[in-house]
Amino acid sequence: MNLLVTGGAGFIGSNFIHYMFDKYKEEIKIVNIDNLTYAGNLENLRGIESKQNYFFVRGDICDKELIFNIIEQYSIDTIINFAAESHVDRSISDPSIFIKTNVMGTLSLLEAAKDKNIKKFVQISTDEVYGSLGEDGYFTEETPLAPNSPYSASKASADLLVRSYHETYGMNINITRCSNNYGPYHFPEKLIPLMITNALENKVLPVYGDGLNVRDWLHVSDHASAIDLVMRNGESGEVYNIGGHNERRNIDIVQLILENLDRPKTLIKYVEDRKGHDRRYAIDPTKLITKLGWNPNYTFDIGIKETIKWYLDNEDWWRRIKSGEYIEYYKNQYENSLI
Ligand code: NAD
Ligand code: DAU
Repeated sequence: MNLLVTGGAGFIGSNFIHYMFDKYKEEIKIVNIDNLTYAGNLENLRGIESKQNYFFVRGDICDKELIFNIIEQYSIDTIINFAAESHVDRSISDPSIFIKTNVMGTLSLLEAAKDKNIKKFVQISTDEVYGSLGEDGYFTEETPLAPNSPYSASKASADLLVRSYHETYGMNINITRCSNNYGPYHFPEKLIPLMITNALENKVLPVYGDGLNVRDWLHVSDHASAIDLVMRNGESGEVYNIGGHNERRNIDIVQLILENLDRPKTLIKYVEDRKGHDRRYAIDPTKLITKLGWNPNYTFDIGIKETIKWYLDNEDWWRRIKSGEYIEYYKNQYENSLI
């Protein structure tokens, strides 16, 4: 397997690279293309750089010529597209980069993949393309697309392009739609790492709206194992939902983190709600389980404890992030609510 992983310096991409080298050792070659936006961090790949069968290219997925050259130079047979702008709140403040990277970037990869006869193209999508659920029910692969944020609209657009390359050109594609991930190297703008690191700094924990929105949490290594299965055994043209039936209300997650860190609940502050805030996500993973034999390894109780410990043990990693460009972002995002 000669894989081109895009966005491999981000949270899920880097965890996927770790997972694949742990599992396949010398049997694979991985080329990681990442243009190192604010979310890309080569520290996430500690220990990987020295491998003979790993190559890093700093570059933009929108650069089709570059993708052509990489495919040729490294005899790439499979592309796994993680690269994206991934934060909903940033898409609400400034959508245009989401269209460029998530839509145009995916198109450029598809074009290169088509011209170079790539064997498999896996698009890493998200459950957010389905929109929001009420109190009952689950997202299946047949749920109509109804994205509510500029981020999820850009991801849904990319999914439709990927689908069209299968229908029109017969490209061997899969689309995976996973629920919320958590685990090591998670950028501290997202709920779980933001709450852990703010609690450690004795800062306010900003909870949007009434705190009763529900997300379906999956450990990032279980996401990686699902992608590996889909990449190898997924049926051409098929979509696979990924999730482990672990629904939690935001407020319960925040309280659990405070309890684990022995910090007071008075740190919680309810703040202005996110615009267009999806109420509930919940994945039905039946297809992935029955067709490909996937099962998650982590229970949330173990996964969240391990993750909290990871942030305790890797303070340098998140403190470096929180002292950079992040300060400006944080001020803009929360300035009206945290004064
Ligand atoms: P992330 O923001 O942590 O990482 C994104 C990576 O892509 C970064 O390393 C960034 O530098 C890189 N990148 C951005 N624009 C690029 C470009 N133009 N060219 C090359 N590289 C570029 O995101 P993540 O949380 O790791 O998410 C990865 C993928 O998984 C995304 O496609 C996201 O939509 C999807 N996803 C995320 C979750 C989640 O819970 N985080 C759940 C389901 C699906
Ligand atoms: O469902 C998959 C998606 O999960 C991925 O496609 C996205 O890339 C990923 O960012 C994530 O999106 P969410 O919007 O669900 O994740 P986020 O961590 O931003 O927020 C989780 C919930 O927590 C959501 O209901 C909003 C709430 N929240 C978030 C932040 C940052 C707060 O209450 N306070 C906050 O400060």
